[in-house]
Amino acid sequence: MAPRTNGSGPVPADAFAHPSKPHLEGDGLSAFENYKRLHEQSIKNPSEFWGSLARDLLTWSKDFDIVRRGSLERGDLSWFLGGELNACYNCVDRHAFATPDKVALIYEADEPEHGRVLTYDDLLREVCQLSYVLKDMGVKKGDTVAIYMPMVPEAIIALLACVRIGAVHSVIFAGFSSDSLRDRINDAKCKVVLTANESKRGGKTHAIKHIVDKALVECPAVTSVLVFKRTESEVQWIPGRDHWWQDVVKKWPAYIAPERMNAEDPLFLLYTSGSTGKPKGVLHSTGGYLVGAAATGKYVFDIHDTDSFFCGGDIGWITGHTYVVYAPLLLGVSTIVFEGSPMYPNPSRYWDIIDKHNVTHFYVAPTALRLLKKSGDQHVTGDRAHLRVLGSVGEPIAPEVWKWYFEVVGKGQAQIVDTYWQTETGSHVIAPLAGATPTKPGAASFPFFGIEPAILDAATGEEIDGANVEGVLAFKQAWPSMARTVWGAHDRYMDTYLRPFKGYYYTGDGASRDKDGFYWIGGRMDDIINVSGHRISTAEIEAALIEDFTVAEAAVVAVQDEITGQASVAFLTLKDHRAVTPEIRDELILQVRRTIGPFAAPRRIYVVDDLPKTRSGKIMRRVLRKILAGEEDQLGDTSTLSDPTVVERIIAAVQAGP
Ligand code: WTA
Repeated sequence: MAPRTNGSGPVPADAFAHPSKPHLEGDGLSAFENYKRLHEQSIKNPSEFWGSLARDLLTWSKDFDIVRRGSLERGDLSWFLGGELNACYNCVDRHAFATPDKVALIYEADEPEHGRVLTYDDLLREVCQLSYVLKDMGVKKGDTVAIYMPMVPEAIIALLACVRIGAVHSVIFAGFSSDSLRDRINDAKCKVVLTANESKRGGKTHAIKHIVDKALVECPAVTSVLVFKRTESEVQWIPGRDHWWQDVVKKWPAYIAPERMNAEDPLFLLYTSGSTGKPKGVLHSTGGYLVGAAATGKYVFDIHDTDSFFCGGDIGWITGHTYVVYAPLLLGVSTIVFEGSPMYPNPSRYWDIIDKHNVTHFYVAPTALRLLKKSGDQHVTGDRAHLRVLGSVGEPIAPEVWKWYFEVVGKGQAQIVDTYWQTETGSHVIAPLAGATPTKPGAASFPFFGIEPAILDAATGEEIDGANVEGVLAFKQAWPSMARTVWGAHDRYMDTYLRPFKGYYYTGDGASRDKDGFYWIGGRMDDIINVSGHRISTAEIEAALIEDFTVAEAAVVAVQDEITGQASVAFLTLKDHRAVTPEIRDELILQVRRTIGPFAAPRRIYVVDDLPKTRSGKIMRRVLRKILAGEEDQLGDTSTLSDPTVVERIIAAVQAGP
C-alpha cells in the first residue's frame, strides 16, 4: 500500500503495510485514539495501568503486592514490590518451552558468509551451561560480572547467564581503553571478567584480551577470566585465572533452574558519562526495567510474534541492552546480532542483512544513516518488502536524513520512529508508536505510557505551558524502567536527576513543544557531547588531557560534524609555555585514546597561550564555541574576561589551523 502524506503536515500512521493490525487498534477506535486514551489512564492511574501491563507482559513466579512506592522528591521509587521473577526465564525459558524451534538469535558475523542461528531451545541450553561456569567461578547472587566482548551470540548468552543466577551484569563497551575498563571493574568490585581473545569489526581484528590483561594488573579482586575464542590467534595466558570459554562450557549440563529474584533486585549496571566527575554506574532493577523493555517493544515498535528485529547498536551501550537483547527476547521474536560495520565489505551490508533474514524492524543511530546517505543511493539495494518499522535513536535526526530513511531505505512503506530516551530511562520515553502515531521528520513526537513531560524554564524551574514553547525537558511522574540509583553514589543520582527541579526527573536535554503538541528534542544542556551516538563528557576528555605532564589547562568543546553529529575540539595551554610539536599533538591524542578509548579522541587540538577565563578563573567555553563556529562577531560580552585580548590570539590560532 502506498503511504498517504498530508501535504506538509504529519505522515499518518495507518498508511503502512501491516501483517495483521497494530496492537493498539481495536474497540472501534483508531490506534492513535487508543494511544491517547491509554496514555491518559497511565498518567491518572499509574498503579492500575502498570500493574495490568506487568502481569500481561511478564511471567512472575510470585505476583507483586504493590505496584509503586516512593516519590521523585525523595528519590526512593520502587516498583512491583513483593513480586518475584527471573529475567532470563522471561527472555528464554518460557519461549523455549512453548516454541523451542523458533529462532532466537541470528548471528551475522563480520565476514558476510559467516554466522549462526540459535533457536530458543539452543539459547536455553547455552545459557544454562554458562550459568554453571559462572557459579563454578564463585559468582553468587548479587555479585557483579564484567563483560567486555564483541557482538557475538556469546555476549548475549553472557548477559542472560548472569541474570539467570541472580548476578548483575556490567557490560563495558569493547572500544573502551584498559584504564576505563579497570575503573569500571574496580568500582563494581567484579571478580569475574568475560571477554574474547580478539574482536573483529569492519575486516579488522582488535586484541581485546590484551586490553583486559593490562586493566587487570590493577584489579586485584579479579580471580577468573573467561575467554571466548573468536579467532585463532594465541594470547598471553595466566594459568589458573584464564579459561577458554569453549573448553569449559561443555563440561556442564543443559539445564539449571533460574534464581528467584525480587522485582527490585539489581539487574545490571551500565556506566555512562555525566557532566562532572567519573562515569556513573547507572543501576537498573529487574521488574521495572523488564516491563519498560517489553512495553516499548510491543507498542513503540509494534512487535508481533513472527517479526525479525534488527537493532544495529552494540551491547556496550543501553540501546544494545534494551533493543538487541531484552525487548525482542521478552517478546519471543528473533533478534539479529550483528558483529560488523555498516560499511563492510561495502555500504550495502545493512540492506543485505535485512533482505537475507526478512527483517521487519531496523533500528540505528542517525550517524550511520548520514554515512550511508553520503555513500550514495546506489548502495541501497534489495527489495526490503517485509520492512515495517525504521527506528532512529541516540541523537537528533535531521529532517533531510529522516526523509532519506523514509523514502530511499523504507521506500515510503515503513514507518519511521524517532525514539528519544537515555541510559537512565531504560527504555523509550518520547517516541511515536508504530502503526499509531502520525510523524513529522525530526520530531520525537509524543510521550510513551506513564511519561508526563514538562518543559521548564531553566532559570526559574517554572513549567511553561501551551504550544510553541521551548525550555528544558523534565518528567513529572516516575515510570517503571527509570534507573534506581548510581552505584555507590545515591547522592549523585539525586543531584543529577532529581534535585535540579524538585518533584521532576531532569533529563539534561532541551526540548520544545509545537502547536500540535509534538515534542522536538534539542541538544544537551550540560557538558555532554554526542559523537556518533556515543555519549562522552567534555570534562572527562579534559581530565584525560591534563593527565599528560605537558598540559597546563584544557577546555574541550563540541563542534557540529556532518557524519558523527558532534566532534570534540580541545584548546590547551602547555606548561612552561612550551611550543607545540607534531609529536606532542600526536601524544595528546593518544593520551585520550589510552585513557578513555579511541572513540573519544578530539578531532582537533589547538595549543594557545591562554584560555578565555573570567576573573574568578572559570573558563568561558561559550567564547571558544563561537570562535570555532566562525561567529566571532557574536561573542557577546567579553568584558568579564580577566584578559580580553586572549580572544584575538585564539581567533588567530584557529584561523592558522591546528
Ligand atoms: C540523546 C541513548 C535526540 C539525548 C539511547 C539523550 C536523542 C542522550 C535521542 C542519551 C533522539 C537520545 N533525539 N536526542 N531520538 N535519543 N538522544 O544515554 O541527548 O547514550 O540525553 O542513551 O542521547 O544518551 P544515552
